[in-house]
Amino acid sequence: MKIVKKNRYEPEEHAAVVIPVFQGMPLEAVWQEFPELKFLNRDKKIKGVAGEAQACHSSQQQRLFLLVGAGHRDSLPDARKLACKIMTLLRENRVSKALVYFIPPGATSHGYLVNLVDYFYLNHYRFERYKTKKSKAVDRIQLVFKKPAALNNNDFKIREIIQRQVTLARNLVNEIPARITPDSLVRIFSESAEKNHLQITVQRQHELEELGLNGLLAVGASSCCSPALLTLSHIPKNYTRTVALVGKGITFDSGGLNLKPGSSMDEMKSDMAGAAAILGVMNTVAELDLPIRVIGLAALAENMPGRRAYKPGDIITYANKKTVEIVNTDAEGRLILADALIMASRQKPDMIIELSTLTGAIITALGDSMAGLMCRNKKLSAGLLQAAENCGELLWQMPLPREYRESITSKIADLKNANYNGASSIKAGLFLQEFVGKVPFAHLDIAGTAFLSKPTFCLAAEGATGFGVRLLVEYLKNLA
Ligand code: BES
Ligand code: MN
Ligand code: ZN
Repeated sequence: MKIVKKNRYEPEEHAAVVIPVFQGMPLEAVWQEFPELKFLNRDKKIKGVAGEAQACHSSQQQRLFLLVGAGHRDSLPDARKLACKIMTLLRENRVSKALVYFIPPGATSHGYLVNLVDYFYLNHYRFERYKTKKSKAVDRIQLVFKKPAALNNNDFKIREIIQRQVTLARNLVNEIPARITPDSLVRIFSESAEKNHLQITVQRQHELEELGLNGLLAVGASSCCSPALLTLSHIPKNYTRTVALVGKGITFDSGGLNLKPGSSMDEMKSDMAGAAAILGVMNTVAELDLPIRVIGLAALAENMPGRRAYKPGDIITYANKKTVEIVNTDAEGRLILADALIMASRQKPDMIIELSTLTGAIITALGDSMAGLMCRNKKLSAGLLQAAENCGELLWQMPLPREYRESITSKIADLKNANYNGASSIKAGLFLQEFVGKVPFAHLDIAGTAFLSKPTFCLAAEGATGFGVRLLVEYLKNLA
């Protein structure tokens, strides 16, 4: 889909015309420009509240007109809802070309337009690889502002670059688990890295054994694909700061010997959403050539039961000498992330930001539209919260109380991986914090936001969202 900006109202043949109606905006302004729509006035259906919509067919112009409630002109959440509503209406009406006309003074802020464009793209996406009949979707949107818009051609280009990587991440997460394994991800990451001039190191069985990355080795032991640690690096000519990003890449989470019940397993192809987001961010950072050194680590394994499977009762010794008792093989994410966090902190970055579909409890706490942020560094958490507000990938901060440290200790090892007795999301965060040393650290639990079982107020498609790509790119752009 192509989105272009115009400063004149010149709809193409058969293009539908969409008119956002903001709250408090006199409808006379609409009737003045489109007198033939004035009859809509009778119904008084549109007051400008987000979610409202009124459609009519103009026989003179041979086109569909859609009046859509747009909320407030300066509200970023309303921009996202508006874009989602418009895309849903266009799809329902099987429209392929649309013109969105902002009646002056229109929407003027840069942030508003960035969100509008992003959410047009996000709601255009559908995963239809396995549908023999593809759905009909919009392929062209013209945005018309009579006043100069606060979004220039370069901004459009940047949003396109980001969206391509969001789509890549979504496709990887939506792809079936038969096709996404540590082996296939090693290939996909390597090809992607080469194309985008990123450095990559691949550590498989032998290297993991040499380095003592025993979390990955334990969790991946019963898979027919050996686990892997991938490290992508973007090293610009001039930089002062280094950021390490870490992603959970469980290509399928069966639970292992602590097998998940059927209904909890059906979405577990999405347990590599953190790793997929890391690839998307790294590609974008390289394409935009941000002046920050960024290192992206993806910890890849498949969590399966079987003869070689790691077992409850086992104890893993980590490369930093800490020992962990396995209480539940379904709490596997923290075990592989511990390895990746040790490796990340050895690079002495200025900060580590880690993303993982880590706990079911974060879904209970925050639902599908905010991820949990756990971070003890004020500056890092403030930057991430700001980026979240800017781009719509929302975060809610949870505490990492030292007082709870006791409940993650084991009777026979230093730590245990489960049976924390409540607050399991933040105690998983406390567990991860043990493996980063003194490096400022943020943990993002994206279990609720990475993969949707139903549409949300601003995302119309179920399945993968690409959560984290836009958030981290926004954070890194602001840091640069
Ligand atoms: N991958 C899951 C978490 C998850 C649940 C992600 C639902 C997306 C949707 C994780 O590995 C897991 O199984 N966590 C367990 C931990 C428990 C056994 C301590 C959980 O949260 O129930
Ligand atoms: Mn699990
Ligand atoms: Zn998992």
